Amino acid sequence: MADLTNMAIPRHVALILDGNGRWAKKRGLPRTMGHKEGCKTVEKMVEAAARMGIGYLTVYGFSTENWKRSMEEVGALMQLFRYYMVRLLKIASSNNVRVKMIGDRRRFDQDIIDGINRLEEETKENTGLTFVIAVNYGGRDEIVRAAAKLCRDCKAGRLDEGQITEELFASYLDTKDIPDPDLLIRTSGEIRLSNYLLWQLAYTEIYVTDCLWPDFNREELEKAIAQYNSRERRFGGVRG
Ligand code: IPE
Ligand code: IPE
Ligand code: MG
Repeated sequence: MADLTNMAIPRHVALILDGNGRWAKKRGLPRTMGHKEGCKTVEKMVEAAARMGIGYLTVYGFSTENWKRSMEEVGALMQLFRYYMVRLLKIASSNNVRVKMIGDRRRFDQDIIDGINRLEEETKENTGLTFVIAVNYGGRDEIVRAAAKLCRDCKAGRLDEGQITEELFASYLDTKDIPDPDLLIRTSGEIRLSNYLLWQLAYTEIYVTDCLWPDFNREELEKAIAQYNSRERRFGGVRG
């Protein structure tokens, strides 16, 4: 087990939870069973992150491209989402967790939109971990929505072109008020971003593990943090 004493705990950890389907296939189970198991891992990681003192945990739950999957799989994911929104309300209250959603929620059924709004509203005063769930999220989609909103503000005279800076642009993104991730963890071995947080990951340290998401646990998270501690972040500067 990695010993985290004297180690820097990243302020913001972003996760691409991948491999639910492969986990199920290995066991001869339907893919949806992998998603069900994956949700349990999410729950455990929220509690672990809150206890470790991580400030922000952002997980990729459903991408703008995941609608391409079968109707059956998308439907099962929506059902799981409905169920976990209720569970999350309890977990968030008992762990002082504030929940936020990023992504375009307008594409979901009304009851899911209501559930998301309720979850954000009822946890907004919590002061511990901020748990960010990316659903119907795509990095490009987020940037395009931000650019469109910026254009509207310019046209309406609320904003002048000369005022557009990186900071201002970032404030139009879904992640406004959330610091950029320090560490990105992707499970299941794929070394790609899959349209995740394209703006925000500019200088994030990337850690990829072969562990399938339903098998991921606190020990795996600690390994990633230990690896993060061995990295030298330079942000384009030179070695100090
Ligand atoms: C990640 O697991 C969960 C979602 C994308 C919703 P996958 O469903 O992508 O699992 P694999 O990659 O097929 O194993
Ligand atoms: C990324 O996983 C999206 C989520 C984890 C929600 P995918 O399984 O969709 O990514 P690709 O298709 O392997 O790039
Ligand atoms: Mg996958």
